Amino acid sequence: MEDFKAVDWKEGKLYILDQTLLPEREVYLEINTTAEICEAISSLRVRGAPAIGVAAAFGMVVAVRELCRKKSNFRESIEKVAENLVATRPTAINLRKAVWRMMEIIRIKDVESKELLDELEKEARKIYQENLESDLKIAEYGAALLESGETVLTHCNTGALATAGYGTALGVIKKAFEQGKKIKVFVDETRPLLQGSRLTAWELEKIGIQYEIIVDSAAGFLMFQKEVDKIIVGADRITLNGDTANKIGTHSLAVLAFHYRLPFYVAAPLTTFDFDLYQGEEIPIEKRQPSEVIELAGRTLAPPAARAYNLAFDITPASFISAFITEKGVIFPPFKDQIACLKEEI
Ligand code: MRU
Repeated sequence: MEDFKAVDWKEGKLYILDQTLLPEREVYLEINTTAEICEAISSLRVRGAPAIGVAAAFGMVVAVRELCRKKSNFRESIEKVAENLVATRPTAINLRKAVWRMMEIIRIKDVESKELLDELEKEARKIYQENLESDLKIAEYGAALLESGETVLTHCNTGALATAGYGTALGVIKKAFEQGKKIKVFVDETRPLLQGSRLTAWELEKIGIQYEIIVDSAAGFLMFQKEVDKIIVGADRITLNGDTANKIGTHSLAVLAFHYRLPFYVAAPLTTFDFDLYQGEEIPIEKRQPSEVIELAGRTLAPPAARAYNLAFDITPASFISAFITEKGVIFPPFKDQIACLKEEI
């Protein structure tokens, strides 16, 4: 297991590894208020769909404690907190699912009881543990799809930093490496926030897996040159028909992989599937500040009045996806009925 934790709960306190400071500095932030957890999630101090779900679950424990101290109108306030937390990152469904799981307990329990806080802490730990267990199964199923000597291209960061566990797409690569397979990784830099070069490279460096960072726009040419064997990415939300929201740039990769007839795999736990939505068009796509595109490390890269359209995620149509790697196994097309069956597995 890794020597870091994206989300940590120690002696009743919530700690977040501040990913905005990586790879230069490893700093853990103690989170004591609702405002702090909302800020940590919206600023991507903690990020990655499963990790923000786990962080929000513990964040709800912190919020309930805070509200009990304030003696305000608890029921009304906690509903507002849940709403605000879910709104911090609208695309990843894991966040909403985790918050609603916590709210189900809050809605039926007596507010003033110590029992409520104990139950909430227990539920958040359960969400954490389930995340870890599903990661390990995804890694096992996915590693079987990789052969020694292959080069895998990945996008964004889907490792232990993104899941509070072992990782999804990066977990698959890590497991194949642990099984003794020789794997090389092309790491998409992942503009604009550089989750690939800052975070995925940091994780691969620690483990000792061979990798090279590439600019996002290099992927097509590398596929054309037959330097890529497979592509594996994670997901923020998957609809019933298999359409998949993930970090902006994923769609282009999938289309390129389809063109060059390369396997394009999506690794994700069941918590990332939205069984209430039929197709990708229904997924809300988070828009972020133009400054993330226009500025880099505090320096402005465009004319002063420049505008930027900064979509944090895109949708990859199911028809471009070769398989989903889940904790219940690998699903090959046609996806629709098999995804519907996954709902029954929860
Ligand atoms: O904006 P981010 O860094 O939270 O985006 C993360 C991704 O897009 C990941 O690919 C996805 O959440 C899966 S993480 C296992």
